[in-house]
Amino acid sequence: MYDQLSERRYRQIATVIEQNVGIKLPPSKRTMVEGRLRKRVRTLGLSGVDEYCKTLFDEGQLEAEYTHLVDMVTTNKTDFFREPDHFDFLRNEAVPRLLGEGAGKRDRRLKVWSSACSNGAEPYTIAMVLEDMAQQSAGGLRYSILGTDICTEVLEHAVTAVYADEMMAPVPAEMRRRYTMSPRNKALRQVRIAPELRARVRFHHLNLMDATYPFDRDVDIIFCRNVLIYFDRPTQHEVLTRLSSHLRSGGYLILGHSESAAGSNLVGLRQVMTTIWQRQ
Ligand SMILES: C[S@@+](CC[C@H](N)C(=O)[O-])C[C@H]1O[C@@H](n2cnc3c(N)ncnc32)[C@H](O)[C@@H]1O
Repeated sequence: MYDQLSERRYRQIATVIEQNVGIKLPPSKRTMVEGRLRKRVRTLGLSGVDEYCKTLFDEGQLEAEYTHLVDMVTTNKTDFFREPDHFDFLRNEAVPRLLGEGAGKRDRRLKVWSSACSNGAEPYTIAMVLEDMAQQSAGGLRYSILGTDICTEVLEHAVTAVYADEMMAPVPAEMRRRYTMSPRNKALRQVRIAPELRARVRFHHLNLMDATYPFDRDVDIIFCRNVLIYFDRPTQHEVLTRLSSHLRSGGYLILGHSESAAGSNLVGLRQVMTTIWQRQ
């Protein structure tokens, strides 16, 4: 018989995920969830997705399996230089304005947070842009980047910083030459982000649904892109309110292009572009 989740089992999974991770799992996502669970079912040598749910909900394995479950239901699609106008804004507007304000304090370190960083493509893109600016500016530019995500698997990938050659296609050739290293074995068709960039980016596990975030409250720029779409409106608002409380005055919040509506009604922030807000 075809391996499917009963409606009751799907509701149990959806409830755990919606309550803890914020990701909405309406009935229309059932086929997708089943497909993702089947791979895990094979790894565990179980008979099917229904037996998997039985071990989780009837035999007390939910806690032990929780990390895998979360990793399975998150969608981690990302790219280097995704939504490239945000990186133009970073280079041409945000950094000059933020550092212009801090004139006389040129050794101030710029803090950037990629708050749903997936496999690291977003924070390493930020690092490439800032490193490029640092090398071009006479006075130098000090910066640090924090990447956080709820998915353990992508965070491990981000730390290794090894990517398939195809992923590098959107990276300008000169940046690829400067900021990536090719392995001796070219047949692998992959590159690794250069050590000087890796040293600027640190990664932590973080659930945006948590009531507080254990990070600095004077962040210059927060990227929160292509994650709010998975949450309902009240959750979007709560997450953005918490994130913006970590921005310094004058700092920027950058959302994904399909998420700009989530930024409306944010207290203490003014919209400077369709997807960008500034803390007052
Ligand atoms: C589609 S990716 C977007 C990655 C990147 N920001 C970009 O725009 O390319 C969404 C990421 O959000 C993460 N995510 C989903 N729910 C989350 C939560 N509650 N807390 C933190 N990260 C979450 C997923 O694990 C996934 O890596």
